[in-house]
Parts: sequence; structure tokens; C-alpha cells
Amino acid sequence: TDAKQKRDFLSLDGWSKQELLGLLERARELKELRRLGERHQPLAGKSVGLVFEKASTRTRVSFSVGAFELGAQALDLPVAQTQLGRGEPIPDAARVLSRYVHGLVIRTFAHERLEEFARWSSVPVINGLTDLHHPCQILADVQTAMERLGAVEDLEVAWIGDGNNVAHSWIEAASILGFRLRLACPEGYGPDAAVLAAAQARAPGLVSCVGSPEEAARGANVLTTDVWASMGQEEEAKVRAAAFAGFKIDRQLLSLATSEAIVLHCLPAHRGEEIDEGVLEGPSSAVFDEAENRLHVQKALLELLVG
Ligand code: CP
Ligand code: NVA
Repeated sequence: TDAKQKRDFLSLDGWSKQELLGLLERARELKELRRLGERHQPLAGKSVGLVFEKASTRTRVSFSVGAFELGAQALDLPVAQTQLGRGEPIPDAARVLSRYVHGLVIRTFAHERLEEFARWSSVPVINGLTDLHHPCQILADVQTAMERLGAVEDLEVAWIGDGNNVAHSWIEAASILGFRLRLACPEGYGPDAAVLAAAQARAPGLVSCVGSPEEAARGANVLTTDVWASMGQEEEAKVRAAAFAGFKIDRQLLSLATSEAIVLHCLPAHRGEEIDEGVLEGPSSAVFDEAENRLHVQKALLELLVG
């Protein structure tokens, strides 16, 4: 048969450096086409379902607008308003939705739920964030860093704070794309051991956990962080705030980085907790370019997987 094998984007694992750089280059081109106001609709007549089990501003709107600009319609499917929210099994929902739409973006809690969706879906599934990974975010982050700093191999990234979903996708990105990443996380809040071990096996010496934010930041050209309590951890917020004292990106930490260093944050941010207002709004901050680039990289992804 000539049945085409669909491809998913659940994490960066399984994607080659060449493929990821191809997506980033396409994102750059699509950004330019958009700036010129040129129409490009390879997804005309198609539909993309956005199955979201958590709140979202950037991911939901950038996928929705991105699909529209490529000629497709996006369907907002907050889980609570579908039968999934009343207990319909994922294998049923995935097979049914696959009969209607040409691609699915899923935001959920356990990464296994996303994997189950992908297993039962006959159309491409894209990770719009799980508790374990946020790969679309890191595509946009790397695009932003390359716009500001140049070749991907020259990036030297410091992750300050929680070893969370965003950190895990940074870890995979560093080990695939070949740049250095130092993570400084409070004790007990480091990254997932399996994700870290896989990256260290893939690219020995590139990814390391260090003892302090200062050690991570010294000589880096990208400083990045994220909230201390992610979605689903709201009840831990107080305990975490105490554990994360000192793990903040402020002017002093930024002064240890190179003079051209940029600051990234996936947003939303908690000013005064993981990042200072002055840094977030200061000249080194690239957070709004970073948010914009979600649109361009995800259009590149939709074009490749759904087009
Ligand atoms: N950064 C990010 O994914 O933002 P949203 O939660 O608003 O989608
Ligand atoms: N780590 C955060 C990222 C939000 C975009 C969360 O999972 O809530």
C-alpha cells in the first residue's frame, strides 16, 4: 500500500539536528513571508484540533493563528467541553478526532496521555506542553537565540530554577543541536534523571547540572528560567518559593553572563520571583520576540507534518 506514515512531534527526541535546523530555517522564511504580507496556504481546506487540558495564551493563539494563516481552520477543544472531560477514553477520542481533523495539538498533564493520543491517532500529534516536555517552546527559544547570537553551536545556555518540562526540552535541544547547557536547580528540583542521562549519552560533556546559579550564568550568552510552580503544582507554590530562594535572574546574575547575553522566559512570568522586573523589561530581554517566534516555528511544524 502507499499509506503514508504520519509523524508526531511529542518531544525533540527522535529528531535529528538536520531536521530541527531545517524547521528553524523554514520558520525564518515564514517569518519573512509574513512580514511581506505574502499568502502561503499549503493547508487550505484542512482542520487542526487543539485539545487543551490546561490554560494557555501563547500556544493556543499561535497555533490557531498559524493554522489559519496556512489556510487551515483551528478548532479550540478545551477538554472540559469535550466528552474527554466526562471520561471518554483517549483511544476513542483519538480515533474519532482522526476521522475529522488533519492534525492535533495536545496540551495535557502526564506525558503518557499525549503518547496514548499519538498511538491511537492516525493524524500527526503535536505536543503543546505536557508535564515532561514543551518542545515547541524550545524551537522558538533556539530561533530567538540564533537571531540574536548566530550559529547554534555558539550558544551557551544557563537554565536557572526548576528542572521542569521546559528545562527537559532545553536538555534535549542542547544534546541534539550541539550547544552547551548548564542547569542550576535547587536540591530536589533537578531535571528528570532519564531525560538528563539520555542527553548526556547522546552528547557527552554538553549538558551539566551545576551547584549554583552563578556557576551556570558565568560566561553564558543565554540566561533562561521559568516559573517555580508549573501548572498542576499550584498547591506546592509556597514550599517551592522557599526552596527556590536565590534562584532568580536578576541584574547581578546577568552581569556574570557575556556582554551580548540575552534573557529568555517562556512566559507567563512571575516578576520578583524567578526573574526581576528590571531584567524582564531590560535591554537584554528577548521574551517578546521569543513569544512571537512560537507562531513562526509552529507554522513550520504544521507545514511539515500536516501539509
Ligand atoms: N509559553 C507558553 O507555552 O505559554 P502559554 O501557556 O500561554 O501557552
Ligand atoms: N513550566 C510551565 C510552563 C508554562 C508555559 C508550566 O508547565 O506551567
